[in-house]
Amino acid sequence: MALRNIVKKGDECLNKKCREVTDFNSRLHKLLDDMRETLIESNGVGLAAPQVGILRRAVLVMDTNNDDEIIELINPEIIETDGEQEGPEGCLSVPGVWGIVKRPEYVKVKAQDRDGEWFEVDGEGLTARCFCHEIDHLSGILFDTRAERILTPEEMAELSAAEDDEEYEEYEEYEEE
Ligand code: CO
Repeated sequence: MALRNIVKKGDECLNKKCREVTDFNSRLHKLLDDMRETLIESNGVGLAAPQVGILRRAVLVMDTNNDDEIIELINPEIIETDGEQEGPEGCLSVPGVWGIVKRPEYVKVKAQDRDGEWFEVDGEGLTARCFCHEIDHLSGILFDTRAERILTPEEMAELSAAEDDEEYEEYEEYEEE
């Protein structure tokens, strides 16, 4: 496995429509393994192939409701949505920018796994948001174009303070064990 460079907004890879994956071979597996390592290293919750410069329909989504399991989605399609959520969203390719984006609360996806087998997977909350965000990348759509508004520096500081508190609480729980 190897880390791949994450391209940033302004790189034309991020605005292109990705092509279907047709070969479920060792090159695809290497790409997915590298993307997994890159996602973990970057502390992200999702990564799309165009973010590492590969214009193919492949994404990773971290299922934060399920032990941070990383789901590989090849040629994914959203087949069902329900409800609505509105909240802050960011992207590894748009560092330092957060925007308020409306997404469905529940999303069901149909996709192929790394060997080409079709399966369905669903998620709610952050996982549903992540399915939408990553699949958008495959159409060349970045979250900031969907954002109702971009957070101010003060709001971003509040958001990161809230995240720090959460991490602290997790640490406390661990200490008690
Ligand atoms: Co993104």
